[in-house]
Amino acid sequence: MSQPEASLPVLARTTAELRAVRDGMAGPVVLVPTMGALHAGHRALLRAARAAAGPTGSVIVSIFVNPLQFRPGEDLDRYPRTLDDDLAMCAAEGAQAVFAPSAAEMYPAGQPEVTVDPGPMGRVFEGQFRPGFFGGVLTVVLKLFHLTRPDAAVFGEKDAQQLALVRRLVSDTNLEIAIESVPTARDADGLATSSRNRYLSVAERDLALTMPRALRAGQRAAAQGAQAVLTAAQEILDGEPALAVDYVAIVDPRTFTPIGSGQAGPALIVAAVTAGTTRLIDNLAVLLAGRPESRRRTRDAADR
Ligand code: PAJ
Repeated sequence: MSQPEASLPVLARTTAELRAVRDGMAGPVVLVPTMGALHAGHRALLRAARAAAGPTGSVIVSIFVNPLQFRPGEDLDRYPRTLDDDLAMCAAEGAQAVFAPSAAEMYPAGQPEVTVDPGPMGRVFEGQFRPGFFGGVLTVVLKLFHLTRPDAAVFGEKDAQQLALVRRLVSDTNLEIAIESVPTARDADGLATSSRNRYLSVAERDLALTMPRALRAGQRAAAQGAQAVLTAAQEILDGEPALAVDYVAIVDPRTFTPIGSGQAGPALIVAAVTAGTTRLIDNLAVLLAGRPESRRRTRDAADR
């Protein structure tokens, strides 16, 4: 039996239009929040959302370039906006609705007075280099949750600190929304797909590829522990002085606290770089082996 033709998603431009379409939805409702300029990474999220919604459920995609998470001097005005192509991808991946509001629709009173404070985890790494960024992200995500009332929402592991903070938003404020995560989609050359990759010249893209290369070098050193991972990644980055490195670190994926040498277990190696004028972030999961001595001590203790 052939699959039915995917019908075009309903495009809601206002909260009233969104409410009308949301009220008519049955089954699990799954939200995919995005800023548009959809690429292969977003497509993976749409597919995961479609699977999570099941045959009776519905997928809502939000497309909103959220001014609250951009600082003056960042790329708010030139951020790519490709609504027609985005709608085509949402249709092809079986989304039922696209919510694409204006800034005035989302923030009718202008800059909101009351916002979400992401706490200490929101002030390190990305939060340190982009002050206010996670407050803006969590505020819009919470608004989108209230507007779409989803049973589940899908986020990418590419933005690992954002994912960790969204999980804390949900647990700390008792939201009944399941957060699903999707592994990072990469182009064939290893660069994580990103709406900002289109800013890169060919030479800058080459330079940017140093970051995934450094992360992979770090990952290969995981058996030697955290310090070896960091050293291996750092060495690759140091080999490209034209690449400006904001940070490279090994962190706990849930808390973003740095992992000390000798600590074993799952960790993330995270990095942020600027190639030309384009700032990019990436990460890879690593399974750290502990220090040989600590492993030996544990074994000795177990033998006794
Ligand atoms: P945006 O950058 O459009 O990303 C939307 C979602 O797609 C995020 O969950 C992000 O982690 C995921 N994503 C982006 N690139 C990916 C890749 N290469 N592989 C897998 N997933 C990827 O993140 C935002 O928008 C905004 O901060 C938002 C959450 C929408 C709030 O404004």
